[in-house]
Amino acid sequence: MAKILERYTGAHLPLTQWPRFEFEIEKCTHCRACYESCPTSCIQWDEVNKIPYATGYGDIELACLSCNNCEAVCPAQCIRTRGEYRVLHGRYKTVEERFGEMYPPCPFGEGDLTRNFADIEAELTETEKVIYRRRSIRLFKKKPVPKELLQRIIEAARFAPSAGNNTPWKFIVLTNKKLIEKIDRQSTKLLDVVKWMYARKSLWRTIAVTLFSYLQVNNMDQRPIAAIEKAHQIGGSITWGAPVVIYVLADRRAIGSADLDTGLAAENLVLAAHSLGLGTCFIGLTSNALKYMPWLRKELGITYPYKLVTSICVGYPRGKLDNPVWRGKVPIDWIE
Ligand SMILES: Cc1cc2nc3c(=O)[nH]c(=O)nc-3n(C[C@H](O)[C@H](O)[C@H](O)COP(=O)(O)O)c2cc1C
Repeated sequence: MAKILERYTGAHLPLTQWPRFEFEIEKCTHCRACYESCPTSCIQWDEVNKIPYATGYGDIELACLSCNNCEAVCPAQCIRTRGEYRVLHGRYKTVEERFGEMYPPCPFGEGDLTRNFADIEAELTETEKVIYRRRSIRLFKKKPVPKELLQRIIEAARFAPSAGNNTPWKFIVLTNKKLIEKIDRQSTKLLDVVKWMYARKSLWRTIAVTLFSYLQVNNMDQRPIAAIEKAHQIGGSITWGAPVVIYVLADRRAIGSADLDTGLAAENLVLAAHSLGLGTCFIGLTSNALKYMPWLRKELGITYPYKLVTSICVGYPRGKLDNPVWRGKVPIDWIE
C-alpha cells in the first residue's frame, strides 16, 4: 500500500539528497565562468568578495542538477561536487540501482579510478575523446558560425541510424537574432507560470503539481524551475545568447519511434560540432514552451507532418569548456 501511495504522491518538492559543494576559493581566478554558465540559478556570484557560492531557489533547497558544469568550466579546478542529485521519496524517486558514488570516465574498467583522464586519453579513439570531453556549452562568442560549418554538422546528422531507414527528421536553422530573442522572451514569460506554480511549498501547489504530474509526467520536476529563473538572471536568454538555434523536428507519421531517430541524428550533429571546435547545448525549455505557442511555431514554419522534438543552440565557445566530468552509476544487467 505504502509503495502504491509513493508512486502517486510526492511529485512536488520531493525529499532530495543534494550534492555537496567544496570550494577551494583561494584558487579562484574570479572569471565568473561557473556562475555565468550554471544551467540553473544554483551558482551565484558574491559581488563583494568576487567569488561563487551555491544556493537554492524558492523552497528548493539547492538548485543543483549534479551536471558538474561548474567543475568543467573552472580554469583553476577550484570547485568540486561530491554526491549526486537524488530524489529519495515519492513519484520521482531515483531508482535504487543508481545509488552509488559518481565517478570519472572509466572505459577500461573501474581500475582506472586512480588514473587521471589525461593519462587514459592517449589510449582512446578520437570518437571516444569527443564523447567524454563534450559538455553542454553555455558561454558563446558573438561570432557567427559559417553556413558551411552548419551544413557540415547537419550532414553528420543525415547519416544517423533510423528505424526502417525512415530518416524522419528535419532541421530549422535559425540565425535571425531578432527572432531568437523574441522566442526566448515569450518562452520565458510562459515558463514563468510553471516556475511560480512549482517553486514554493503550499497545499494548492502540491495538489496542482501532483495533478499536472499525471498529465505531464516528464515536466513536473524541480530541476528546470531554477533553470527558468537563470534565464532572467542572464537577460532572458534561454538559448544562452548563442548565434544559432537549430530546431529538431520529426515526421509524426514515421514508423518506429521518430523521436528516438531524431534524437540519434541530433547527437550525431552535436558530436560532429564538438569535434570541429563548436559548442552546443540542447535546449528543451524552448521546445517545451513552443508546444503552447502556435503563433511562434507558425513563424518558424513548423507545420504538419512535422512536430518539434527539441532544439540545440550552437556557437563558438568562450574559453576551453569541453572537459570530462564525473557521472553516476549506470544500471546494467548482464544476462550471460
Ligand atoms: C533533451 C535535452 C534538453 C535539455 N534542455 C536544456 C535546457 O533547456 N537548458 C540548458 O541549459 N540545458 C539543457 N540541456 C542540457 C543538460 O542540462 C545537460 O546535457 C546535462 O546537464 C548534462 O551535462 P553535459 O551535457 O555537459 O554532459 C538539455 C539536454 C537534453 C538532452
